[in-house]
Amino acid sequence: MVAPSGEARLLVDRFSRALRNLRLSVTDRCNLRCAYCMPEQEYVWLPREQFLRFEELSVLVDAFIGLGVERLRLTGGEPLLRRGLPQLVALLAAKPGLRELALTTNGVLLEEFAEPLFAAGLDRVSVSLDTLTRERFAALTRRDDLDRVRAGIAAAQRAGEAHGRGPLKLDSVIIRGTNDDEIDALLEYAREVGGEVRFIEYMDVGGATRWSMERVVPRREILDRLEARYGRIEALPERSSAPAERFALRDGTIFGIIASTTAPFCSTCDRSRLTADGIWYRCLYARSGTDLRGPLRQGATAEGLSALIADAWRSRADRGAEERLHLAATERARRLVAPIELRGDPHLEMHTRGG
Ligand code: GTP
Ligand code: 5AD
Ligand code: SF4
Repeated sequence: MVAPSGEARLLVDRFSRALRNLRLSVTDRCNLRCAYCMPEQEYVWLPREQFLRFEELSVLVDAFIGLGVERLRLTGGEPLLRRGLPQLVALLAAKPGLRELALTTNGVLLEEFAEPLFAAGLDRVSVSLDTLTRERFAALTRRDDLDRVRAGIAAAQRAGEAHGRGPLKLDSVIIRGTNDDEIDALLEYAREVGGEVRFIEYMDVGGATRWSMERVVPRREILDRLEARYGRIEALPERSSAPAERFALRDGTIFGIIASTTAPFCSTCDRSRLTADGIWYRCLYARSGTDLRGPLRQGATAEGLSALIADAWRSRADRGAEERLHLAATERARRLVAPIELRGDPHLEMHTRGG
């Protein structure tokens, strides 16, 4: 199934969705334990010798770019835990055909790495931050690192500006009874540091073993709360690609909402994910992926890898979030991946396939 697109012919899946966006998880390790992502006491980790080396990643990225990928995002776990990350950024930033190279981080190590990463060619950073109070941060992430994250955000803002890159984004997962009283404060903090906050609905992805529909704060409610405080909110015409919808307050402050749970964007989803050990997933909710490390290490040619990727994308019919949309809350909760399954296959974890 190939659709015409200008001169080039575009690779599309069964729902005519192109392959444009690739998220590279460079490690499954994390230095925080966010309650919506890693609530358990013990985790099974991917064996380090199975992590793709930078040269291997480079070969795979070339194949993806050849098939239409133009945006890359480095994720984790926590990507800054991967040794030598600025070298990987330099390697990827030099690839012709790439329009954007971004990073999603929890910010703990960003104060040290922001400058070298932008110097190496990184275009943008998104920092996850769900609360501005020290005690709550410590309770939510099980680490007392709020000050380091704030310092990391400031460093990212400075370095981004110095290199003419950006914008800086802050990602806040809003959970009822946990941080839903901080929506205004997070918005104002983002404005202060020159960033754009996106409020994210709590998702029932693998790893979110404590999820329940009651704890999801839907987009409508986030907007109502902000409107009650700041007055009329204007929806902005979509500028960047899904999943965030953008809005403006009367004073011009812009923010986003990622309503993956109540208003999924599966119908236009052009993203896929490669885990640190080279398994390629075509949906956040997918139970299985395609092993690219095996063929790569067994000497597959560039053409062979490219054909493998193209065939898998053509048969893609995933729409994980939409499939769950009309399920009753109890049925939806029953579909959560159980801790025992997660231990059996850590690839099912959000922290393995990248947030
Ligand atoms: P930009 O808008 O380009 O900065 O990137 P992004 O919107 O992809 O942002 P980011 O990578 O920071 O992801 C933000 C959040 O969007 C994630 O934490 C998820 O909650 C949600 N999200 C990201 N990818 C997917 C996906 O493939 N499917 C669904 N349903 N939600 C996703
Ligand atoms: N729901 C929504 N977002 C999640 N993330 C991880 N787990 C969840 C979840 N259950 C996202 C957060 C975080 C990023 C790294 O992963 O947005 O910022
Ligand atoms: Fe938190 Fe991200 Fe680490 Fe998950 S991977 S525990 S969301 S910092």
